[in-house]
Amino acid sequence: MCGIIGYTGYSEARGILIKGLKALEYRGYDSAGISVYHSDFKECLVAKCKGRVEDLEGKSADIKGNTGIGHTRWATHGGVSDENSHPHKFGNVTVVHNGIIENYETIKNTLNVGDKLKSQTDSEVAAALIDRCFTGDPQQAIVDAVKKLEGTYAFAVMFDSIPNTIYAVRNVSPIVCCKNDDGAYIASEIVAIGGYRESYFVLPEFSVAKITKDGFEIKDFSGNEIEVEMLKLDWDIKNSGKCGYPFYMEKEIMEQPDVIEKTVNMRIKDGLPDFSGDKVDNGIFEKCKNISVIACGTAMHAGLIGKQLIESTCAIPVSVYMASEFIYGNPIINDDTLVICVSQSGETIDTLEALKYAKSKGADTLSIVNVRGSSIARESDNVIYTDAGPEIAVASTKAYTTQVAVFYLITARLAYLRGSLNYEGVTRFIDELKKVPDAVRNVLDRRKEIHLLSKSMLTAEHTFMIGRGMDYPALLEASLKLKEISYVHSEAFASGELKHGTIALITGGTPVVALMTQQYLVSKQMSNIREVQSRGAEVITFVRSSLKADELENCFVLPELEDDFMLIPSVVALQLLAYYVSSDKGLDVDKPRNLAKVVTVE
Ligand code: M6R
Repeated sequence: MCGIIGYTGYSEARGILIKGLKALEYRGYDSAGISVYHSDFKECLVAKCKGRVEDLEGKSADIKGNTGIGHTRWATHGGVSDENSHPHKFGNVTVVHNGIIENYETIKNTLNVGDKLKSQTDSEVAAALIDRCFTGDPQQAIVDAVKKLEGTYAFAVMFDSIPNTIYAVRNVSPIVCCKNDDGAYIASEIVAIGGYRESYFVLPEFSVAKITKDGFEIKDFSGNEIEVEMLKLDWDIKNSGKCGYPFYMEKEIMEQPDVIEKTVNMRIKDGLPDFSGDKVDNGIFEKCKNISVIACGTAMHAGLIGKQLIESTCAIPVSVYMASEFIYGNPIINDDTLVICVSQSGETIDTLEALKYAKSKGADTLSIVNVRGSSIARESDNVIYTDAGPEIAVASTKAYTTQVAVFYLITARLAYLRGSLNYEGVTRFIDELKKVPDAVRNVLDRRKEIHLLSKSMLTAEHTFMIGRGMDYPALLEASLKLKEISYVHSEAFASGELKHGTIALITGGTPVVALMTQQYLVSKQMSNIREVQSRGAEVITFVRSSLKADELENCFVLPELEDDFMLIPSVVALQLLAYYVSSDKGLDVDKPRNLAKVVTVE
């Protein structure tokens, strides 16, 4: 949550900072601001305001100079206001901050600066602390200050007394860095600066970077210089815009066949799943007696599919935990457990903390992550990267389907190594998985049909989604999509559970979405559809072609795959349903209210 950017070099900083903030805006869009060192005034000037980066553009036109930092905010401490926007300036020091300082009240009282602060934020207190610690050595001041902080942070810091230099430090919250002939750049995510240079590095935690136009000097907290590991962009920066689509979400939905294909195909050798390219240790699959999947939101929904696949194919018990509840529920985790963390961003704080806890209990760890070099990826013993490319829309789409694709691969690998499927069984499983991208293409080609069906939901306030077997976790995901981007209240139910209470809410005209892809459950699901129809529900059905009954109206017919593989095409169809409801309502599909793409607060 929150995006930070910094630049120092030969060009005007403002344009580079604004462009970077636009790329980072999906991390938080409550307010935006920049600060640029002005050589005539010999100080860092600040322009900031609540609202979007485009609001800031008009308010920062006079800010000139070659060195600056910027911020886009998702409010935590202190409401959404101009004063609480970053950067925060205190004395000699100007900061932008991503993270949460838990002991900021104590620090504020110790420094006795309450009457001098202009905002209610923890970040301004951190600026005051760095200012108080400064006695001439900026790196030492930053080290002394952050040692007193409890919480997570990524700071970019400028000092009025040290022109054309930025300092950066982090604990958990990410900072990536790169340099070209024009100067040096830092940002919360590579998407903001990847256009300047395709090789970059992640600033190591608990080190301080001194950034000048000539490059980076990085020292640990004892003052020793440290080497960094260079990474390479693994996607084409030219494709990181909207590419003609009105919203990133639509673009990302449309990319799914290709990214699923890429994620799967690079991990098949001789018809078998193979993670040697990911350097995943086979031993973690061979020795585990149980598996715990830990994740949040959409990533957790991918885990629910993993559970069904692994339990039914390999007979290994799988528990799926919401990361935010995991530590507090006394989970049974030990060295028999394989913990699989799933995260698009690799920065979700609850998932990261749960991962650290699982490691401390002796579990083997594997993460399914999209962002290379992210905190969860670095903390895990083993990582499988989804090859979805940057996901910008707050609503996760291609990250989810590639996470699920990795679960199919893990299932097949487990089944092969443990003998629950023989060679023919595994290759048949993989052959069916390879048909998924074309099935998704088929759904996307007929998206106009889904657009038409979506019209009936434009005025809905509440909706219910019903399905059985694997269709139920698919609908949990579909329901989350509808809620978060179209603001329609939606609840997904295992169809058989509905009559244990919730059916009381079905009245004339209540929209109900029914998903029917599992052959072995068709007669029961048809009965459940009739039950809600007879109470007046208006049912939209997503049904595989072999199960399409004449009595079903308002239908989208899904292409045919084996039961276990219907999931991805079904969810893609339901992503489109949510997308069309949101865009037809005129909402900001990519930046729904109150949300941010990366959740780095507990
Ligand atoms: O980056 P992560 O995958 O760890 O994020 C987890 C959730 O915050 C995320 O999936 C969220 O639920 C999405 N907004 C859903 O579309």
